Amino acid sequence: MIKAQRGTKDILADEIYSWQFILENAKKVFQNANYKEIKTPIFEATELFARGVGDSTDIVNKEMYTFSIGGVDKNETSITLRPENTAGVVRAYIEHNMNRLSPPSKFWYFGPMFRYERPQAGRQRQFHQIGTEVFGVKDASCDAEVILTAVEFLKSIGLDELEVELNTLGCPKCKNEYRAQIKEVLKPYLDKLCDDCKMRYEKNPLRILDCKNEDCQKIFEIKEVSEVILKDYICDECKNHFDELIKYLDELNIKYKRNKLLVRGLDYYNRTVFEIKSEALGSQSAVCGGGRYDGLVEMLGGTPTPAIGFAMGVERLYALINKINPEKINYFIVSNDTISALKLAQKLRRNNKSADFDLQNRKFAKQLEKASKVANFAIILGEDEIKGNYYSLKNLANGEQIKIYDFSKLL
Ligand code: HAM
Repeated sequence: MIKAQRGTKDILADEIYSWQFILENAKKVFQNANYKEIKTPIFEATELFARGVGDSTDIVNKEMYTFSIGGVDKNETSITLRPENTAGVVRAYIEHNMNRLSPPSKFWYFGPMFRYERPQAGRQRQFHQIGTEVFGVKDASCDAEVILTAVEFLKSIGLDELEVELNTLGCPKCKNEYRAQIKEVLKPYLDKLCDDCKMRYEKNPLRILDCKNEDCQKIFEIKEVSEVILKDYICDECKNHFDELIKYLDELNIKYKRNKLLVRGLDYYNRTVFEIKSEALGSQSAVCGGGRYDGLVEMLGGTPTPAIGFAMGVERLYALINKINPEKINYFIVSNDTISALKLAQKLRRNNKSADFDLQNRKFAKQLEKASKVANFAIILGEDEIKGNYYSLKNLANGEQIKIYDFSKLL
């Protein structure tokens, strides 16, 4: 038997109503905040992610589904299933000259992403993200608006107790200083770091702070190391930006916690980074991750454009929300006259009433049993009704039954 691939999942009827609930709320909240939906392709040139996400990240190094086969793509371009969508949206922004639009340009998206990770609860190889990207504004008010939008969306699906973890990575100059200090203080402990961190030490030392390995954690706790790690290496301008953001968040009553070790796993960030977590999710606790990426548009060939956004894992949202039961349909037609049942169903559906009927022409008792499971009302269309030109309408909640002579009364 052929089974679904490891780390992928079918979303069946019992989950789909909750997924629709999540998506409908996303659409409502983002559109109310004037975000426009954007759909970009599921695969892109590998180079987009290598340059955009960064070739020292786990995503690019270990997790990409890359196809470099002349037979698949005759141009022999190496293509990759998108591991995330920021790089793709930035590519579209540049390709369609959207910098000509009056800023900000605000987008939201939903779709599958692909990462070759070790599957576990809350971590899949094909998963779905809902996200936003905002281009053209460098002011901290934009950071506040993006975080507010994330929080409002979570509230709309009943998740209003989640705390925002917040940090600032500073500008490239601050980041360089921080990197240099981290390398300096960790130098004596280099051979005690895990293999991944040994590699990060050369390529991306900030990412060492994100490491969950116990041996690495112990090193971070050494006094002289933790002093350097926890010190702020941000210039006055970056500090002002962060202070302003905090003022906005306070005004908006958004709960946040400063986490100086929050560095995020993608290379494009500068200044504000944030995550929203839920302990109920266990080790894969991040529901949402995002931040500012003021250098990415230029780095990918566009005109310099500040930008910020976030993405949320839909499977993780699903795990946290109260599940939504399927809504019952309006009518189930109980009849052994298939033609009449089909015609009535068609007429009701055209009038925007949901209706179904028995395709197996079973006995009335069986049909009524099915009706009471799936519908609010049964319309009985037996011989008497057809002869007498009326419908028997049965309220399946209380069993009351009445005769209806006028079709419009069903609408
Ligand atoms: P990310 O932190 O890599 O950021 O992913 C965002 C969210 O996607 C995570 O917080 C998590 O909920 C979900 N997620 C990630 N990987 C998996 C997985 N393997 N299985 C299930 N869920 C997963 C980004 O992707 C950035 N593009 C976010 C962003 C947008 N930054 C700026 N704009």
